[in-house]
Amino acid sequence: MEENKRLYSAVITGVGMYVPEKVLDNKYFEGLVETNDEWITTRTGIKERRFLENGATSDLAAEAVKDLLKTSNTDPLEIDAIIIATITPDMIFPNTAALVQHKTGLNNAWGFDLSAACSGFLFALQTGSSLIESGRYKKVIVVGADKMSAIVDYTDRNTCILFGDGAAAVLLEPSKDFSFGFQDSILHIDGSGMEALHVKAGGSLYPASHETVDKKMHYMFQDGKAVFKVAVKGMADVSVEIMKKNNLKSEDIAFLVPHQANLRIIEATAQRMGISKDQVTINIHKYGNTTAATIPLCLVEYYRKGKIKKGDKLVLAAFGGGYTWGAAYIVWSMD
Ligand code: UT7
Repeated sequence: MEENKRLYSAVITGVGMYVPEKVLDNKYFEGLVETNDEWITTRTGIKERRFLENGATSDLAAEAVKDLLKTSNTDPLEIDAIIIATITPDMIFPNTAALVQHKTGLNNAWGFDLSAACSGFLFALQTGSSLIESGRYKKVIVVGADKMSAIVDYTDRNTCILFGDGAAAVLLEPSKDFSFGFQDSILHIDGSGMEALHVKAGGSLYPASHETVDKKMHYMFQDGKAVFKVAVKGMADVSVEIMKKNNLKSEDIAFLVPHQANLRIIEATAQRMGISKDQVTINIHKYGNTTAATIPLCLVEYYRKGKIKKGDKLVLAAFGGGYTWGAAYIVWSMD
């Protein structure tokens, strides 16, 4: 990205996360549907996922924001804007951002929800970075949060084993040092993917009715095989493309931070990028697919474990419902 188009670089100066305490392990699903730990582990890499018993996506996001404010020693009144990437908003309106603003005392912030399924955090990070790069805003929080248990049909073995609940957040601030922070992104949408991955009812197309409930149209539908094929190609292609565009060799990359939908998709992407297993952030075994939260959860956990360090070059990549997909290149800025 040409530096003269940005007044500032958007750097990450704080992080926060929250996952609910309740754990659903693979054994739990053996009692619900015709499945087993061996199938789930070998086909997906998932061992456990988290389940929010009481509350909504705004509660997950609010806890992540509170963790961020506390650990970065930030006054909530200093936050200018909050963007929440989610496909499981508490309600059709008001937006989840407003509910989180109220729960966390961000009394000077505006904000909005961003709906891009598994690519939501990438899209929101690009959007939040643009607000900072223009010089108009000084502190922007970007959250990925999803309560996937709200839209999962726990009688459908094709989907129920895959998803979990969680949230994570980053704080963006301006810096004049362009060698750190958000460097570049390549993002895509393709609505022809709607048929393979969607929640059909509850919006303006099929408002809630007895019929939509009887037909289970408020649950997520996924044609797993169809999505798998395009996800492998889409995520790998865009990851290689962002490397080439930014002259990144495989040895330059500290970590690929991929969306955690399936370990096989992650491994295929890493292979195409020519990077080793040690250069990939993985927590799918603990949390499953938390949709917009997977990438920031990886960032926060690997940073807090001391694995992601200042100056590390990171490629973030995702593929999901829409279809939506893309990759971002960032240089980690926190000590
Ligand atoms: O994050 C948003 C984007 N989503 C993705 O990236 C997900 C992409 N898709 C996937 O990750 C994989 O397609 C799945 C994990 C969803 C499924 O794995 P698969 O290897 O593609 O399995 P499949 O759908 O081809 O099913 C293989 C067999 C089928 O049985 P038959 O028809 O061969 O007899 C399924 O009915 O496995 C069966 N199956 C199961 N068996 C045990 C499907 N789900 C289960 C299950 N337990 N939970």
